[in-house]
Amino acid sequence: MKFTLLSYIVINLLIVTQSYKPVFLIHGIMTGSVCMDLIKARIEEKHPGTMVFNTDRFGGWSSLENMWYQAQQIGSDLINITQLYPEGIHLLGYSQGALLSRTILQAFPEHNVKNFISLSGPQAGQYGTDFLHLIFPDLALKSAFELFYSRVGQHTSVGNYWNDPYHQTLYKEYSQYLPYVNNEIKSNRSEEFKKGITKLNKMILIGGPDDNVITPWESSQFGYYGENNTVVNLIDRDIYKNDLIGLKTLDDAGRLKIITVPGVDHFMWHLNISIVDNFILPYLD
Ligand SMILES: *[C@@H]1O[C@H](CO)[C@@H](O)[C@H](O)[C@H]1NC(C)=O
Ligand SMILES: *[C@@H]1O[C@H](CO)[C@@H](O)[C@H](O)[C@H]1NC(C)=O
Ligand SMILES: *[C@@H]1O[C@H](CO)[C@@H](O)[C@H](O)[C@H]1NC(C)=O
Ligand SMILES: *[C@@H]1O[C@H](CO)[C@@H](O)[C@H](O)[C@H]1NC(C)=O
Repeated sequence: MKFTLLSYIVINLLIVTQSYKPVFLIHGIMTGSVCMDLIKARIEEKHPGTMVFNTDRFGGWSSLENMWYQAQQIGSDLINITQLYPEGIHLLGYSQGALLSRTILQAFPEHNVKNFISLSGPQAGQYGTDFLHLIFPDLALKSAFELFYSRVGQHTSVGNYWNDPYHQTLYKEYSQYLPYVNNEIKSNRSEEFKKGITKLNKMILIGGPDDNVITPWESSQFGYYGENNTVVNLIDRDIYKNDLIGLKTLDDAGRLKIITVPGVDHFMWHLNISIVDNFILPYLD
């Protein structure tokens, strides 16, 4: 009898500890939840029983709304879900959704997200013709800053993370989003922004040199243009060296994973089963 009760408890504990944490997915720009269907299906297939929440907010054109606003709305959903799962959830964002995901972690530092996977997101900003012309076909790269670094331009997500290496003074003066969420400009929320990152178990940054949209592609791993248009990698940038948002803290503790995968175009990351199997599933326990 005692033995039976004990085995019953042990078996239940095993079931509880072996069940997978829920996963929250955030899609990219100009698309919707449908673009995350393959990832969702693969998680459910390989990790049976996983609850996968695939947000359908801000699909299509509404994905161009202000980043803070989107993060606030989707973040409220995420926090509601986390309240049902006190043992924590995982968060995965693709493209702009990866930057939105990170913003949610920072804007809601009370979250209980364990692992955050950034799938080719413009974490350090964006400056490139290929990306620009997806959404603004007629806008010239060199003058885009005139639109984006304005009050009107800051109503758009792209304007919020447009990081023109030739106009850094205007960027810091006008951008209401990226310099703040990256703690390049201190605010009364800077500490919270850092806390929301350092509490993660793991941050996984996936990107690659054949992306063709995220420019420079290193932005997917917090690298960016420095002087003379040369790319400076994460570990040589202030955001890391001065631990502005906690990336160095994570790295020192072995909790930052940087994954570079060649041969993947931007519009393939979320459609490539081998990416899901090799670089996503291992972080969804
Ligand atoms: C979150 O949950 C609260 C209480 O259950 C509810 O009032 C609120 O509308 C929910 N918010 C969202 C964004 O679902
Ligand atoms: C930060 O400052 C703004 C305005 O200066 C204020 O509205 C906000 O409540 C402050 N936030 C915190 C967390 O102190
Ligand atoms: C950028 O170019 C200038 C002038 O050519 C040079 O003096 C400077 O050292 C360069 N900076 C970097 C980081 O390469
Ligand atoms: C899929 O991902 C693998 C790496 O896991 C890469 O080698 C391959 O080129 C990718 N295929 C496509 C079509 O993107």
